[in-house]
Amino acid sequence: MQLAIINGPNLGNIGSREPKWYGTQSFDSFYQELKQEATSSDIHLTYFQSNCEGSLIDKLYQFKEEGIQGIILNAGAYTHTSIALRDAIKAVELPCVEVHLSNVYAREEFRHKSMIAGVCLGSISGFGLQSYRLAVEALVRQLKETK
Ligand code: DQA
Repeated sequence: MQLAIINGPNLGNIGSREPKWYGTQSFDSFYQELKQEATSSDIHLTYFQSNCEGSLIDKLYQFKEEGIQGIILNAGAYTHTSIALRDAIKAVELPCVEVHLSNVYAREEFRHKSMIAGVCLGSISGFGLQSYRLAVEALVRQLKETK
């Protein structure tokens, strides 16, 4: 099974950025652990991060062409603003899980609205980096069930 994690703006700085919300471990070191775990369960993980909305959209189409079967997406602040990203998720027709490190509902009101939630399978928010691990598990189960 081939899955991709996509991280949006400012998520390349996890580990040093606002540790109160995002913790102190870098995404790269977490990703190495997660990738190893996944590989031992026959899941091939790929990772992409960009601060640019258009690059995130281009990558979604590219992943689709490359045969990626599902997406774990933390769109960062674009979650709350990007109709273009929502349209791209819909267009590629790949199962997608929305992820957030922080509990967005315990934060400012503008973070309570997600433009992408309605085109995702579901959302996982508030478990720090574990949110990604939970998302991989949920996506794998869903893909196996709908095979
Ligand atoms: C975030 C939550 C967003 O509101 C914020 O803009 C981020 C990170 C999270 O993972 O908690 O950049 O997606």
